[in-house]
Amino acid sequence: MSNRLVIVGTQWGDEGKGKITDFFAQNADVVVRYQGGNNAGHTIAFDGQKFALQSIPSGIFNPRIKNVMANGMVVNPKAVLTELAGLEARGVKEYQLFISNRATVVMPYHMTLDGAYESFKGGKLIGTTKKGIGPAYADKYNRIGIRMGDLLDADYFAERLRDALAIKNMELEMLGLEPYGFDAVYEEYMEYGRCLSRYICDTSVMLNAEIEKNSRILFEGAQGVMLCIENGTFPYVTSSSPSAASVPLNTGIAPRYVDRVLGVCKAYTTRVGEGPFPTELDGDLAHYIRERGHEYGTVTGRPRRVGYFDAVALNHARRVSGVDYLALMLFDVLSGLDVVKICVAYELDGKRIEHVPSTIAEYARCKPVYVEVPGWKEEIGHIGSYDELPVAAKNYIGKIEEFTGVKVAIVSVGPDRTQTITVKQLW
Ligand code: IMP
Repeated sequence: MSNRLVIVGTQWGDEGKGKITDFFAQNADVVVRYQGGNNAGHTIAFDGQKFALQSIPSGIFNPRIKNVMANGMVVNPKAVLTELAGLEARGVKEYQLFISNRATVVMPYHMTLDGAYESFKGGKLIGTTKKGIGPAYADKYNRIGIRMGDLLDADYFAERLRDALAIKNMELEMLGLEPYGFDAVYEEYMEYGRCLSRYICDTSVMLNAEIEKNSRILFEGAQGVMLCIENGTFPYVTSSSPSAASVPLNTGIAPRYVDRVLGVCKAYTTRVGEGPFPTELDGDLAHYIRERGHEYGTVTGRPRRVGYFDAVALNHARRVSGVDYLALMLFDVLSGLDVVKICVAYELDGKRIEHVPSTIAEYARCKPVYVEVPGWKEEIGHIGSYDELPVAAKNYIGKIEEFTGVKVAIVSVGPDRTQTITVKQLW
């Protein structure tokens, strides 16, 4: 039995990681977000209530759980304060939150530049969430990023901000945009630092102490491996790595402590934003799945693109991230179809391939090769055990296991915490 479980999205995000993290968090001591920022939208439903979290870890509802925003994240302090105020207004008043002093701060110019870069790309939009995520990570790697701990030291923050603004304002002016004045940004961010100071600490030291105590730690990935900056469908990706491989680096723990990975996938596929999507559907079937699955972005409200399950993409995620078990989400959405298809290979320029090509030019030419399995008519949202599922539904799960080589441990048949079938106990 593992005491450290990584929850990884294996598709293009929105797989239902929030629900699964919340499900496992019931038995966790610590929940850690390790990358991304408030571009993520994690939806959690329990006791007749629904919450949408963006940057705060999904263990926040349980006062016993330590919630960590680790060094690999980009943190918009204003958004964190708004999210906390929203939670408190809805009765979530007792919680434990720890924000890494090494996490990068999303500054106002990052949001301005995110929008500007998109508008200067002509027709080649990435379709970002415009939350400043990419520009914040770019500044981190350009070593002009500001970190959460910097906000606690007035003189050091002033120096860092002056250096950053010297470059960022030049960039903004070149793009024909208004530069930012030092004083207003400084005062605003010093105030955020004051409001968040009680949460900001060295989360690496803290996590290592939890590992020493053999605490149960859940690492909550955001986005999905197909959006990974390293191994995703570049350049139509986010700017961090959601894969399990990024956990040690992004949390300040040793790689040997990552010992079990749960890959989260929908029973079909969705994608928000631009970029190739070989199994994409349109017309009535796409509409049917989109409406049943409420496939509209949590952060941006955009309708999600919808397609059949893609085992080639999932195998890619399995290879680059490692996936020990699958959590198969939104399984109830597929009821009512005559047949269901699974993409098991691509055809690229007349050749069959079973991997994701590295260039978008090639990926856009990939045609899905499908196997078809019979669908099922019964609604399954009330079903509580694997055995009670319709035979055709179990057959579909068996095919997913066959084509991905990974066993399904969890089947989700509805948004509520209780609508979760455990096939294999993970902890
Ligand atoms: P960014 O992360 O805002 O830079 O957006 C880059 C790409 O990642 C865009 O296609 C977004 O739609 C996508 N993306 C970012 N976060 C999420 C998410 O949480 N779910 C799904 N797609 C996301």
